[in-house]
Amino acid sequence: MLDGGTLTGGPLVEEFERRVAAVVGARYAVAVSSGTAALHLALMCLEVGAGDEVIVPDYTFPASANAVRLCGATAVLCDIDPSTFNLDPDDAARRVTSRTKAIMPVHLFGLPADMDAVLALAREHRLRVVEDAACALGATYRGHPCGALGDVGCFSFHPRKIITTAEGGMLVTNDDRLAERARALRNHGMRRQAEGVDFLETGYNYRLSEVHAALGVAQMARLPDLLRAHRQRAAWYGEELADIPGVALPGEPPGCQHIYQAYVVRLDERFNRDRVISRLRAQGVEASIGTYALSALSAYRDQTPLPRARRVFQQALALPLDAHLTREEVRAVARALRAALNEELECGMSS
Ligand SMILES: Cc1ncc(COP(=O)(O)O)c(C=O)c1O
Repeated sequence: MLDGGTLTGGPLVEEFERRVAAVVGARYAVAVSSGTAALHLALMCLEVGAGDEVIVPDYTFPASANAVRLCGATAVLCDIDPSTFNLDPDDAARRVTSRTKAIMPVHLFGLPADMDAVLALAREHRLRVVEDAACALGATYRGHPCGALGDVGCFSFHPRKIITTAEGGMLVTNDDRLAERARALRNHGMRRQAEGVDFLETGYNYRLSEVHAALGVAQMARLPDLLRAHRQRAAWYGEELADIPGVALPGEPPGCQHIYQAYVVRLDERFNRDRVISRLRAQGVEASIGTYALSALSAYRDQTPLPRARRVFQQALALPLDAHLTREEVRAVARALRAALNEELECGMSS
């Protein structure tokens, strides 16, 4: 027999939701099939649609702004603060119009965005706040967990995130009606009512399976250890890289607890970041770019390029980081980076 309850979430999905809600300090958590699905449902549940604008930082993974477009709304990109990689609230304020319905701070790489400023802006203009906390499970802002600071928070459990279900996501909120609608929308719009199952609106198949949820439940038990391990490795990098000229290290603004889902540094303009990545790879170090400036991508070419996001897109460098990296491996990465940067300077002087 088809049962709305079990189709929506079995016992492991519910247990995973309880564990995430407890860590984030939110009343409701709704597990879905990806972080993108969580963002899409969050915006839909806030009635974001055609004619609305949502402010999104230019420097983020495209899923943040794609979710806005999936609702038929317009993603309006704003510039970032290069020292945090996060949205610049002053630039965001300049982009508010009468059509702005929401703002989406992204806690990029696990560092909380400047939420005091974002929430003040939202209060002033009556905007809804959807936190893209895809990278930030366990991060805190002035002691409060990211994800529970705005109207809705969205997490990803993609393999690059601090905990993973292979693919998966979660939406958290304190709004009971919003949570109920999200539960229906993730399951084709199905609701169970006294008279039986009905489909009240067009929904999606954004369910998380019990198999994925089993991974999530097991991973949540490890979250405190994983958070400690990531912060420890970031501290090691901090020690090893402190004296390298031209490399800006990630830090924690007052009141912010970074989870270092990724360890991303910024190279100054003397260095060609892509060549540095190749030089690191030649030494066996798997480095990569930070993330994307959306306005540099074909899908978002209609947007004005934003200078700080564009520079960071060119100069940010993600170094290897996972919970098993040893002190010696961190030292070896630092040595390789020093060598790569020296080669860059020598090549610059000879060219
Ligand atoms: C900032 C950000 N937002 C959203 C997403 C989308 O998450 P998912 O890949 O689970 O759909 C990601 C994933 O990489 C991300 O980094």
